Amino acid sequence: MIKNLKNDNLKYVIGNYSRYPISITHGKGTYVYDSTSKKYLDFITGIAVNNLGHDNLKIKNSITKQLDKLVHISNLFLIENQVKFAKSLVSSLPGHKVFFCNSGTEANEAAFKLARKWGIFNNKKIIVSVTGAFHGRTFGSLTATWPKKYKEGFYPLVSGFKNTKFNDISHFKNLIKKYKDILAVIIEPIQGEAGVKIADKNYLKELNSLCKKNNILLIADEVQAGMGRTGKLFSFQHYDFKPDIITLAKALGGGLPAGAIIASPDVADFLTPGSHGTTMGGNPLAMASGLSMLSQINKKSFLDSVVKKGNFFLNNLKIYKKNSMVKDVRGLGLILAIEFFNEKKAKKFSSLCLKKGLLVLLTEKFNIRLLPPLNVKKTEIVESLKIMDEVMEEINE
Ligand SMILES: Cc1ncc(COP(=O)(O)O)c(C=O)c1O
Repeated sequence: MIKNLKNDNLKYVIGNYSRYPISITHGKGTYVYDSTSKKYLDFITGIAVNNLGHDNLKIKNSITKQLDKLVHISNLFLIENQVKFAKSLVSSLPGHKVFFCNSGTEANEAAFKLARKWGIFNNKKIIVSVTGAFHGRTFGSLTATWPKKYKEGFYPLVSGFKNTKFNDISHFKNLIKKYKDILAVIIEPIQGEAGVKIADKNYLKELNSLCKKNNILLIADEVQAGMGRTGKLFSFQHYDFKPDIITLAKALGGGLPAGAIIASPDVADFLTPGSHGTTMGGNPLAMASGLSMLSQINKKSFLDSVVKKGNFFLNNLKIYKKNSMVKDVRGLGLILAIEFFNEKKAKKFSSLCLKKGLLVLLTEKFNIRLLPPLNVKKTEIVESLKIMDEVMEEINE
């Protein structure tokens, strides 16, 4: 079966992904099963999408209830689930408003367009992103993305973008001296694709105050680290940092495609009727699913449990720091990484984990990224550590 699927995939599907040599057919909680019925602990969660694991009953019920009523209708009409979801998302952000789209890259494009509209009235146009950043694959987001490998073959990109060094505030100070028309800075407080690189507290604090002082908008890309992953609803809430625009996707739709921007009262109304839009964004089905996800994760007790389990996981992973193959271990909440000195060891680690029934994500060659569901059980974390211990021993040989 898997051989036929591989052949047909090669024949009929454009080859822009390198894929694991398995096909996952179903899942329950933290576990998924492949076409041979082999069981895996899923510590990839569809790349930080399935924050409540697989087959979450409440999400399933919300989707089926909505399926019976209406799947799609378009933004020509008022959409009740969209309004309810927006209201829940901004419950701790008074005056903020939401625009819904379908993906992370679209959310960032919307943020750039909104910033540019605001900038016209302020005579500003330059958008600054940071080294290591990943913001998506469409032209604007790709321009703001750092690694060259994503950009090769796609030049020319979008004009009016500049770069500053992540965690280096003096670099940004020089940039604002050099360019007087900086409009916005986009940053992931936790860089997921770069290998879970965590912004320093002081860096984000100073970046925040420099931007406020110089009338520069702050865009927090929360596509990967948002929606409770770090133990707060948004990862910037760990910092002294007040974004003007927040971008969301991945887990936002409870497993269905959804993206969004949340904009502060000062900027939100610059997107006027007809200035931006999308056919599918904020459709009733994705909104029902997202609402159910949000109602389950956005509770103090749930978010506290993410912090607790994250600390337990990180403390246990830190034992690997004693291993000479391991350069670093880091994480915040349930987004964690083990960084190896040698890329071959990292690759071997991920393929042996797969063989032993643990899905982990090889990231930027040297890093193993771990993204368990936020409702993972402590016993499942222990089970994953057992597998990783064995794998560490095997690759040490
Ligand atoms: C921080 C961040 N921003 C944006 C994106 C792009 O999201 P999407 O793949 O939904 O377009 C990603 C995807 O990995 C991401 O991690």
